[in-house]
Amino acid sequence: MTVAYAPGKVILFGEHAVVYGRPAVAVPVTQVKARVIVEDAPKGCGITIVASDLGKTYRLKDAPLQDPLSFTILNTLELLSPGPDLDLKVTINSTIPIARGLGSGAAVSTAIVKALAEHFGKNLSKSAISDLVYETEKIHHGTPSGIDNTVIAYEAPLYFVKGKKMEIFSVKRPFILLIVDTGVKSHTKIIVEDVRRAWERERERYERLFDEMGAVAEAGRRAIEDGDIEEIGRLMYENQRLLKLIDVSSPELDALVDAARRGGALGAKLSGAGRGGNAIALVMKETYTRVSKMMKGAGARGVIITEVR
Ligand code: PMV
Repeated sequence: MTVAYAPGKVILFGEHAVVYGRPAVAVPVTQVKARVIVEDAPKGCGITIVASDLGKTYRLKDAPLQDPLSFTILNTLELLSPGPDLDLKVTINSTIPIARGLGSGAAVSTAIVKALAEHFGKNLSKSAISDLVYETEKIHHGTPSGIDNTVIAYEAPLYFVKGKKMEIFSVKRPFILLIVDTGVKSHTKIIVEDVRRAWERERERYERLFDEMGAVAEAGRRAIEDGDIEEIGRLMYENQRLLKLIDVSSPELDALVDAARRGGALGAKLSGAGRGGNAIALVMKETYTRVSKMMKGAGARGVIITEVR
């Protein structure tokens, strides 16, 4: 029996603009995780998938073509080539809320790849894991930038430019984030498509806004490396202002960001595709109880506290 885990993630700066080649910054969130167990099954059983959270058990050979779990398993086995006629049980659990911008899909895929590789005694590089998961991300998201699979495979603070650069960087002074659930699903694929249509209609304006978001992400990375926590917060509010201008915020997210500001958060913004999902707020030890209370008063359905280090 082999067990593997993968964390969730939040995007600190640059979502959406990252799809258009601008830089973004993301960090892993280890308070939530996906877990995958691979076990040998009795001979002749084939591969069975147990998706515990969905209450579903099914044979891989009966799964629809676009089933992300089977797709990931098949793709990984193709790379590992452990031999034909495998009899396996693959059990999947996750504590990462689904469709909340926390990378639940990428984390489940990553844990599947890691568990299978380990089960067959093969060592896959982080880059190979990330590449495999990217293929499944296309099913979930259509045209993903690749930031989710990369930050989750590397499990480190990441500066990311699509198709180009991937740099792990260090956090000079740890800082505390509240990850606050609106209770509303964020449908990444639909929102990314909406943004693309808007970009097609108003190319110049969107390009300018994406440039500004890219500059914010660039400055955000520098502030994190310099340990300038107030600047990180200021840039988060600035990123949120720009995200509102491309119409990916929502009344629920705006209310949470507003409450965070009133509660004394140094910064706050939506994280991920938006229109729902999570907001994140940068808080100090002295302010997090107050900020958390204010955000709950403004409709927060759940709060995760994490330290970025
Ligand atoms: O998967 P989410 O909801 O965290 O969103 C991904 C971030 C986007 O920039 C909106 C899309 C992408 O592929 O990078």
